Amino acid sequence: MRTVLKSVFHATVAVGIALCAFDAAQAEEPAHAVKLYNTYCVQCHGINRDGNGINSAAMAVKPRDHTDTKAMGDTPDETLFKAIKGGGLAVGKSILMPKWEGVLNDDEVKELVTYLRVVSKTTPK
Ligand code: HEC
Repeated sequence: MRTVLKSVFHATVAVGIALCAFDAAQAEEPAHAVKLYNTYCVQCHGINRDGNGINSAAMAVKPRDHTDTKAMGDTPDETLFKAIKGGGLAVGKSILMPKWEGVLNDDEVKELVTYLRVVSKTTPK
């Protein structure tokens, strides 16, 4: 029994250390926006934010590569905001980009726009 408890304790400490390391790595990024992206956007836009999510192979229109500095740099904040809030159709793009109005409030959409500037290494436009 003592051995079991000991290994449970060790496992817990190991997980704790791993989580701290993860937190430190994320410190530069806006944590809440990262969480939103990882919850709602990764399945299409991908864990690497490059448009290669698990769904993308089967999609007729490829999700935007958010690491594409050129394309993201050419897209104004207002368009990014509209596309996230109202979906692809709101900016004349594919309906495969869902609208997030009703799921995310305007502040959260703004946080995501700001975060996309970090991901794409572009400046607000
Ligand atoms: C069901 C798949 C799917 C999900 C989930 C998804 N997207 Fe998209 N997204 C797309 C597709 C497909 C496009 C490309 C549309 C096109 O080019 O016509 C796109 C395009 C975009 C664009 C580019 C719009 C433009 O004007 O160029 C932005 C920004 C974007 N998505 C942000 C997000 C964010 C933020 C989330 C999470 C809140 C998200 N997407 C979730 C599929 C998805």
